Amino acid sequence: MDINFQFRVMEKIDISLVYEIEIASHLHPWSEKNFIDCLEHHYWNYVLFEENVPSQIVGYCIVMPGVEELHLLNITIHPHFRRQKIALRVLSAIEKIGFTHHYLKMLLEVRRSNESAIKMYEKSGYLLIGSRKDYYPMGSNDVFLREDALVMEKILRKLNE
Ligand SMILES: CC(C)(COP(=O)(O)OP(=O)(O)OC[C@H]1O[C@@H](n2cnc3c(N)ncnc32)[C@H](O)[C@@H]1OP(=O)(O)O)[C@@H](O)C(=O)NCCC(=O)NCCS
Repeated sequence: MDINFQFRVMEKIDISLVYEIEIASHLHPWSEKNFIDCLEHHYWNYVLFEENVPSQIVGYCIVMPGVEELHLLNITIHPHFRRQKIALRVLSAIEKIGFTHHYLKMLLEVRRSNESAIKMYEKSGYLLIGSRKDYYPMGSNDVFLREDALVMEKILRKLNE
């Protein structure tokens, strides 16, 4: 059975656990400073935890609010808790909040090679709207080696309720 989870606003004290999940999950992980910057900017920074177990962080999600659109900057699920529809449910909840606050759409970038994330976004209703050449650094030491991003978008509708 898929686990139940709750979310709360990320605080500085969460960052060391969040960073552990980040380095286990990404080719070119964010630094702890990147997370601190997001907190300082008061983006929509959430940690997800197993229902009634606040210490068990199962993932996190960071969204930058713009004028009319939301920009998904990071969504990461702890490797032990994947394939339980957590990412799909989180996106749906955030889209609902966005819609009620009159945001029109959510935008995101994803590595061209990140098939699992692309499948998850497609399942969630995101459409490919473009690409950004050499957007992402690779994990290797070769600073010239870069990977394209796909840009995806979802128009927020009441349908999400
Ligand atoms: C991408 C990620 C956020 C998905 O989180 P998740 O909670 O496991 O995803 P969900 O359970 O909601 O998946 C929903 C659907 O997406 C697709 N999907 C997700 N992971 C997949 C995988 N590894 N392989 C194939 N399809 C996958 C499936 O269609 C899945 O539905 P199904 O399980 O019924 O087949 C997670 O794998 C992750 O944290 N990856 C590393 C960080 C990352 O890449 N983040 C996105 C950066 S843009």
